[in-house]
Amino acid sequence: MAQVGVFFGTDTGNTRKVAKMIQKKFDSGVVEIFNVTKESAVEEFLNNYTNIIFGMPTLGDGELENSVRDFLEALESQSADLSGKTIALYGLGDQEGYGHEFLDGMAVVHEKFGAMGATLIGRWPSDGYDFSGSKALDGDEFICLGIDNDNQADMTADRVSQWLEQISGDLGL
Ligand SMILES: Cc1cc2nc3c(=O)[nH]c(=O)nc-3n(C[C@H](O)[C@H](O)[C@H](O)COP(=O)(O)O)c2cc1C
Repeated sequence: MAQVGVFFGTDTGNTRKVAKMIQKKFDSGVVEIFNVTKESAVEEFLNNYTNIIFGMPTLGDGELENSVRDFLEALESQSADLSGKTIALYGLGDQEGYGHEFLDGMAVVHEKFGAMGATLIGRWPSDGYDFSGSKALDGDEFICLGIDNDNQADMTADRVSQWLEQISGDLGL
């Protein structure tokens, strides 16, 4: 079993690309990635990983991508206890097209994982983004790494690298 599980949902593939980027930063076998549509994803998440990275896009009107919504519902229906788990969040969004609800869905995930007892890490400065509103904002920081592949794709690799340096110790890497 890998040391860290990266669990993600995606609509058009950007969040998967970031998951693969994260996996490639480490030696083979250190990080395993799981699309949350996978039948075993809930079981893997609950039983096999204490150190987790979780990523998803915000879709709809600041909403969750469908497979992420189903995944969270499955956890809630089992009254999942995430105490003892450390989870770093990353979110995909579009600050130009959806600048009034940039990364909004991440606030829902943060709240739900927190309510289930997880320790949440991976906050990220909001400097360098241009948006008018985000529920993922707490003070000057996002509660997750914010990735905008629609408008700032050239910044994604550096953002991911810096963020991983910041969180690696907390994830036992
Ligand atoms: C229908 C639709 C609604 C979206 N709504 C939001 C939104 O409310 N907030 C936001 O930050 N981004 C929003 N986005 C942008 C996506 O989050 C962004 O394109 C992301 O990279 C998609 O990730 P994926 O390829 O993993 O699905 C929306 C995109 C689409 C197509």
